[in-house]
Amino acid sequence: MITIEKMKKDYIDDVFEIDKASVPIPWSKNSIEEEMNNMLSKFIVAKDGDKVIGFAMCWFIMDECHIGNIAVLPEYRNQGIATMMLNNLLEDCKEHGTNNLLLEVRVSNVPAQNLYKKLGFEELVVRKHYYKNPDGSYEDAIIMTK
Ligand SMILES: CC(C)(COP(=O)(O)OP(=O)(O)OC[C@H]1O[C@@H](n2cnc3c(N)ncnc32)[C@H](O)[C@@H]1OP(=O)(O)O)[C@@H](O)C(=O)NCCC(=O)NCCS
Repeated sequence: MITIEKMKKDYIDDVFEIDKASVPIPWSKNSIEEEMNNMLSKFIVAKDGDKVIGFAMCWFIMDECHIGNIAVLPEYRNQGIATMMLNNLLEDCKEHGTNNLLLEVRVSNVPAQNLYKKLGFEELVVRKHYYKNPDGSYEDAIIMTK
């Protein structure tokens, strides 16, 4: 059974491995721990039994919720896991009375853009050269809001 849990220290290595398998420049274990302890963050994991298979986090800043990161283990993708995690974060937005949701996504990342559009996000603007690639080049970000 797939469950959603609050992030904890025991899951740092799993989250690090999922992020490493998912994005060109993953978070360090220190960054993961900092975000886990950040008072402004909500950080959750998805589990299949005891196995951590995905994570998502957002920052609540004033009346804004900024989706900071989300990833699912490659072998668990396209099964609704990211949708489940985002819906969990969005539920918290309702509780916080947060109406403004914001995120950035690489222009090349069509799966993530589709995921966000399916959940009601719309493109706001393109931010040039927002992401740095491992080879030193840059990629634009689409800023999406809901
Ligand atoms: C983006 C990501 C988190 C989606 O996770 P997921 O669990 O596979 O997503 P879901 O199964 O909930 O899919 C929801 C919707 O997303 C879209 N989507 C997901 N994978 C897709 C793909 N490979 N191609 C096109 N659209 C896709 C679809 O609209 C899908 O809805 P549908 O199943 O009705 O077609 C996952 O691909 C991932 O971990 N990618 C690497 C990390 C990343 O890019 N994070 C986002 C940073 S901004």
